Amino acid sequence: MSSQQEQTLVLVKPDGVRRNLIGEVLARIERKGYVVTGLKLVEAERELLEKHYEEHVGKPFFEPLLEFMMSGPIVAARVEGHGVVEGFRSLAGATNPTTAAPGTIRGDLGRDWGAKVIENIVHGSDSVDSAERELAIWFG
Ligand code: TYD
Ligand code: MG
Repeated sequence: MSSQQEQTLVLVKPDGVRRNLIGEVLARIERKGYVVTGLKLVEAERELLEKHYEEHVGKPFFEPLLEFMMSGPIVAARVEGHGVVEGFRSLAGATNPTTAAPGTIRGDLGRDWGAKVIENIVHGSDSVDSAERELAIWFG
């Protein structure tokens, strides 16, 4: 990691990839000034996703969430910059795109499509510890 900057994991989820929003998401990250230092297109396997979402095991949306995350390719990005964990969560907006603030990725580009799971275009790590754990899962 260059000059001990913070890192986070950003995913463009299958809905974002299907809707051709990879460039839009990466552009917002780059315009903010953060730097993409790792990037790949992945068809995630169940085992990886169970680790990624381990905090949600047993919740009613867990299985639909895994099915959704396996429904198509995902773009995984390692993103770097001071305060980037909190900064990207702020760019992404609230979990529910119906109420996520306009100006955010989820607020501008997302909506409720009536699915069993909330489809909200992106994932961002929720803490520096989560980022370290998740980057190890997705980037080894
Ligand atoms: P969570 O970690 O709470 O949200 P975030 O992605 O904002 O960190 O939940 C993980 C994903 O699970 C979330 O992006 C969408 C989905 N989800 C649902 O489908 N239903 C729910 O009630 C919640 C809380 C999340
Ligand atoms: Mg989360």
